[in-house]
Amino acid sequence: MQTKILKLNDMNDAVKAIQAGQLIAFPTETVYGLGADALNEDAVKAVYAAKGRPSDNPLIVHVSSESELIPFVKEISADAQKLMDTFWPGPLTLIFKLKDENSLPKAVTGGLETAAFRMPDKEVTRDLIKQSGRVLVGPSANSSGKPSPTQASHVLDDLFGKIYGVIDDGPCRVGVESTVIDVSAVTALPTILRPGVITKEQIETEIGPVLIDKHLIDQQEVPKSPGMKYKHYSPDTPVIMIDTLSEKVWLDCVEKLSQHNKAIGILAHGDLVNKLYSSADVATFKLSVDEKSVSEAAKNLFAGLRYLDRLKPNLDVILAEVYPEVDEGTAYMNRLNKAAGGKVYSTKEIENL
Ligand code: TXA
Ligand code: MG
Repeated sequence: MQTKILKLNDMNDAVKAIQAGQLIAFPTETVYGLGADALNEDAVKAVYAAKGRPSDNPLIVHVSSESELIPFVKEISADAQKLMDTFWPGPLTLIFKLKDENSLPKAVTGGLETAAFRMPDKEVTRDLIKQSGRVLVGPSANSSGKPSPTQASHVLDDLFGKIYGVIDDGPCRVGVESTVIDVSAVTALPTILRPGVITKEQIETEIGPVLIDKHLIDQQEVPKSPGMKYKHYSPDTPVIMIDTLSEKVWLDCVEKLSQHNKAIGILAHGDLVNKLYSSADVATFKLSVDEKSVSEAAKNLFAGLRYLDRLKPNLDVILAEVYPEVDEGTAYMNRLNKAAGGKVYSTKEIENL
């Protein structure tokens, strides 16, 4: 199959493909999603096959209006309603209790009694949902385990030949996946299962205290969101985090690696790259144009990992900048930690490469 690159005025083609059970990657404000009719079990299975995704990892159902939830969910609590009123369309996914266990194909829910829903902040994708008359599953449109795609070209790198088409609407504005919050329990407080750019503080301003899934605080805990337990966001090249603003540490690290003849990639904010590496013999990718900006870093992280990972000859290591774990920094660090397998720069890490 020759995957088609569709533009915004190719909507009819995309709508027909969805109705015929084909896979269409669509843009959202967070990352590109791999769309298919959520009620067509074969189409949903094809999504898992294209991504190489474990079948117990449930999918988010994308809707274009709140009324599209009604056939599927048991109830919408006052808290859930408030979150939707405030943050939809936008990068927040809500987990609801299903009306009954057959509301959605098992392939979508992984057999759970709950399902995830989100209304993306991209008009073209809401139009695709409306015009096709189908709610759409939409996992990130990458091969399972790889960094999520934030540009149509990333989708093609992973899925060319495996899907009908990708709607190209340029780079994604946010760059990390939606915040996932479980509002399915009647008695317990809502729980954040995956951090995103909608922060705990923003959510608490709307509905009062919420919990954070234990695994986000203690790595020994099993995540409640099945997808959070898998290896994720990993380029083939090893990634090591550098947790300092000290220019000396950055330079020492590069020097040590160079002595071992290692090919190095640097992923850091623009001012640091310009100052330390403009003339050095290392590959670089700027997370922001000049000063440190966590929104820019979150937006560019996956693109940077993919860019450095694809350089030829291959790099031996990517050194990536750490951000404080507050606000959007929580989402950035959650993704970077996984990409790096938790590895932080130390002499031992370098020797182990
Ligand atoms: O921003 C996003 O959310 C993107 C765009 C394309 O919308 N989508 C996305 O989907 O990130 P995906 O499949 O890559 O991640 C969905 C996450 C997984 O960690 C999955 O385990 C979790 O949501 N999830 C889905 N249904 C769930 C449920 N019923 N209970 C707990 N976690 C669930
Ligand atoms: Mg994903």
